[in-house]
Amino acid sequence: MTSNFSKMVEGSRKMVSLLFVLSLFSALSAAKLSVTPTKGVPWPMPMDYKTTGKQNTVDAASFRFTTRSVECDILLDAYVRYREAIFGRNADRFHAMRQSPKFVQMFSQEGDIGEVSVDVSKPCQGSYPSLESDESYSLSVANGQVMISAQEVWGALWGLETFVQLVYKSDTGEYVVNDTIISDKPRFAHRGLLLDTSRHFLSTRILLRNLDAMAQNKLNVFHWHIVDDQSFPYESMAFPELSNKGSYFPESQVYTPTDVAEVIEFARLRGIRVVAEFDSPGHTQSWGLGQKGFLTECYSGEKPDGSYGPADPTLNTTFPFLKQFFAEVASVFPDQYIHLGGDEVSFTCWQSNPVIKDFMQKMSYGTNYAKLEGYYMQNLLDIINSLKRGYIIWQEVIDNGAKVRPDTVVEVWKGGWEEEMEKVTKQGYKTLLASCWYLNDISYGSDWTTYYTCDPQKFNGTDAQKALVMGGELAMWGEYVDDTNVLSRLWPRASAVAERLWSPKDVNFPLVAQPRLIEQRCRMIRRGIPAEPVTGPGTCPVEYREP
Ligand SMILES: *[C@@H]1O[C@H](CO)[C@@H](O)[C@H](O)[C@H]1NC(C)=O
Ligand SMILES: *[C@@H]1O[C@H](CO)[C@@H](O)[C@H](O)[C@H]1NC(C)=O
Ligand SMILES: *[C@@H]1O[C@H](CO)[C@@H](O)[C@H](O)[C@H]1NC(C)=O
Repeated sequence: MTSNFSKMVEGSRKMVSLLFVLSLFSALSAAKLSVTPTKGVPWPMPMDYKTTGKQNTVDAASFRFTTRSVECDILLDAYVRYREAIFGRNADRFHAMRQSPKFVQMFSQEGDIGEVSVDVSKPCQGSYPSLESDESYSLSVANGQVMISAQEVWGALWGLETFVQLVYKSDTGEYVVNDTIISDKPRFAHRGLLLDTSRHFLSTRILLRNLDAMAQNKLNVFHWHIVDDQSFPYESMAFPELSNKGSYFPESQVYTPTDVAEVIEFARLRGIRVVAEFDSPGHTQSWGLGQKGFLTECYSGEKPDGSYGPADPTLNTTFPFLKQFFAEVASVFPDQYIHLGGDEVSFTCWQSNPVIKDFMQKMSYGTNYAKLEGYYMQNLLDIINSLKRGYIIWQEVIDNGAKVRPDTVVEVWKGGWEEEMEKVTKQGYKTLLASCWYLNDISYGSDWTTYYTCDPQKFNGTDAQKALVMGGELAMWGEYVDDTNVLSRLWPRASAVAERLWSPKDVNFPLVAQPRLIEQRCRMIRRGIPAEPVTGPGTCPVEYREP
């Protein structure tokens, strides 16, 4: 009886798994248990995208980008990069060779498209992107002509990126692009990616490759969480002891002024802002190694116990130090915004310290240490204000009631983000969402679908409140990543966030997006980013494996 029963159960389980496999078969293409990627379809999806079945060949021999109106360094640099993105690493050498009359005579292939012309309205030489950048562009491929037009160079860059994604190799191995009309602009102005270079050091080389990957996905803010408790790799000119004592290896694991300038310039040429975060008063253990008297001495009973807590707001040296330090930061990082952190301040050490207790009494704070944190932040905010910079802060600063500038951007990272976004925007602050996009939290399977379906405006609020959402940021905290795995762990999972922040709200079905995400991943591999598989079994088509 018992054994018969268990046989029945086993039999029905088999039936269920058979049904499951059958339904998978019908859901997937023909006889293959994998999804077929698209060819020549862009990621993130443009706002308005029309394409036809009319293919044009791209004439590799004569191909060039030309500027219709204003020329600038950013466009010239992009042309070199994007020719390589279409035709491969040796594009320039081949191009020069193919341009020689002899070669053209011998091998000239007939192609429909030999030129992409780019029209930018505003001067762009030497300019930097900002929160106010106009990133819109239009792109048309029709009658053998390609035209990209944009108000500002930032839109033109994204137009070039889109064009490159439209080009694919036909079955006969030719470069082709279908007739296409695109009118595009991002849904959100701030589309960020946070890297943490304190828990593990990331080399400048990897930071630059990641900026390339960001540009391939139209992300436009590199949030550089540059220092934290574990290490201080930023080499300060005014306070060199900070990295001498606070980095893992002052010889090799620091960012020199030259490294920092290289990152900022590389980002600028790709339309990406670099927002540096120097988090305080918590998360500052590594600062204390090179800056004596900055951190609070923790007491055990009557005596200091040798350990340190957050920055000490009661010392007369604290704010003069911060003033000089942030004046340097403002001169090194050109972005209008500096990220000041302000998260996760532990009060235990402050509570143990007799000088701090006296200060609390003098200020009539009682035992409310959030008020002391508010006092610290207020002084720091006044310093940044005097440097004529805006700031981004983690949500705790607002939660603790500090008075901040009206143009402050509040970054929401905790659970219950819907209520927090409702509250912060009700107070009139611009806000960024990070809670949904902690890509450092990993699990087995296609987790990108949850990133993809989180909408930063899905909270209770008026239209005016929703308009205060500047966008969002994905975070890759550094406890378990370094040079060996950070790019693979980020990409293309970060691409899912990039599309959420760029594309229209209703482009949000993972099953529909999946064939395009696979193509995007394969394109990224072809362009040198070791993007991991995130959609289950399958392979990249051969034309995406080789340039
Ligand atoms: C491009 O044109 C080909 C040939 O007509 C067609 O099969 C393909 O679906 C088109 N692709 C796009 C993205 O429009
Ligand atoms: C800071 O306070 C110490 C004593 O606590 C005093 O000796 C020193 O002169 C003060 N420094 C400044 C810059 O006010
Ligand atoms: C929005 O408000 C409704 C009605 O007050 C409430 O039931 C719902 O939970 C709220 N949603 C969010 C995301 O806060």
